[in-house]
Amino acid sequence: MKFQNTAGALSNEKSGLLVAGAYLGYESDSGIKSLDKLSDGLLDVATSENFTGKPGQTFSFRLEEGKTLVLIGLGDKNSFSIEQCRDYAARAVAAAAKLKAKSLSIAVPSCRATQLPRYAQNTVEGCILGTYSFDKYKSKKVKNSLETVRVLADVKGKKTKSIAASIKKGEITANAVCQARDLVNEPADTATPSFLANAAKKIAKTHGLKVKVYSAADCKKMGMNLYLAVGRGSSEAAKFIHLTYTPKRKATKKIALVGKGVTFDSGGYSLKPSASMMGMKVDMAGSAAVISSMAAIAQIGSKYEVHAIVAACENMVSGNAYKLGDVFKGMDGTTVEINNTDAEGRLTLADALTFARTKVKPDEIFDFATLTGACMVALGNYTAGVMSDHNNLAKQWLTSAENAGEDMWRLPLTKALRGQLNSPIADMKNTGERYGGAITAGLFLQNFAKDTPWVHTDIAGPASRTGSTPAIKKGGTGFAVATIVDYVTN
Ligand code: BES
Ligand code: MN
Ligand code: ZN
Repeated sequence: MKFQNTAGALSNEKSGLLVAGAYLGYESDSGIKSLDKLSDGLLDVATSENFTGKPGQTFSFRLEEGKTLVLIGLGDKNSFSIEQCRDYAARAVAAAAKLKAKSLSIAVPSCRATQLPRYAQNTVEGCILGTYSFDKYKSKKVKNSLETVRVLADVKGKKTKSIAASIKKGEITANAVCQARDLVNEPADTATPSFLANAAKKIAKTHGLKVKVYSAADCKKMGMNLYLAVGRGSSEAAKFIHLTYTPKRKATKKIALVGKGVTFDSGGYSLKPSASMMGMKVDMAGSAAVISSMAAIAQIGSKYEVHAIVAACENMVSGNAYKLGDVFKGMDGTTVEINNTDAEGRLTLADALTFARTKVKPDEIFDFATLTGACMVALGNYTAGVMSDHNNLAKQWLTSAENAGEDMWRLPLTKALRGQLNSPIADMKNTGERYGGAITAGLFLQNFAKDTPWVHTDIAGPASRTGSTPAIKKGGTGFAVATIVDYVTN
């Protein structure tokens, strides 16, 4: 799919499929009115067929042989969102697929001039995300007929250039999201720690990043016993991955992105019941997000030096697996008593955070983890939980999430719950009680981030979907990539 930037009128477009968005009350919108030029009385037909512009409602009109106009409802203009913009574009490409159209001209939803670049970007993202499918293991592949997408933004002169940049940014971001989806959707039998390390190496090679992969022996030397304890029960070798982006000019700050990379979470000896274990290939979604984001960051460029760090391993049961009651010492010297082997993510992150803090010495650390079911209980399946005691940083992060159209919500790091992690024989236990489970996980991590400005994002809910919406397909979602890219490149 190739994207072109154009500022002309939709009625002049030659593509096989023309798509425009219509808000509620579109009848008085001058842009939509001008579509009557395509065919006299076209909009009368739309109204007579009860097309009102409700979200997702479509109206199809055949203009001539091989040429169709589709109006897609956008709903109320005042509450129209970035997510809805992506869905709009995803519906357009679905219409194109249905018509087997090779070319699509799509109008960016009308909006305030200052918002136009963002809506242009997300129109492109919606086209790419809407065509996503993980069909690697299907005998019958989905074929995408669409070759060219012309993106129409209503701007003149100099602004056209900024729209071209937005289109490019949309392409790069959405491709990174799809790459993260691919990594998450890949079965754990293939998507092992080594597979993640190879994916990182490939991205580094393609986009000119620095990459270093540490073996379990290297990690042992660095004292990462919490991380290594988790991977011990698996016959797959643990791999510690470190990717670096360095800007051409002197970096204005250093950012570390830490992703949970448990390629399969059986729960270990605190074994998950079968139904909860199904789907646990998703437990490396944080690592997929940070690794894939690096591809986008390298292509778009950033003022910052950016590090992606993943302590990848598999949480399994075997004669060598870690046990309940064991005590391990982390890279920072903290000793942890294991009272639940299924709270493994925080142990891998503990050493990854220490590595980030002491080796990279960043100004800011962000971690991304499918960390707790409790976060899903608190916020549901669509919303990530954000925890931080650095107010300004948390606010900046949440602003990026809003810009990117990803749903995130702040939870407190309630000090009163910290006592739940006290151990009679070690510095800490790895789990607290049931209530406040997302927060005690956050408090556990805070011990390792220490004073470095740090934001923890629990993506257990939004990392995957059980059903499809136009721009987000069932399975891995690539959640957090868009926000990371926004935060690092804007
Ligand atoms: N990987 C899970 C969390 C998870 C649950 C991710 C559902 C995605 C969907 C994590 O390692 C885990 O098992 N957490 C435990 C923590 C508990 C033992 C304190 C949980 O949430 O039950
Ligand atoms: Mn677990
Ligand atoms: Zn896990």
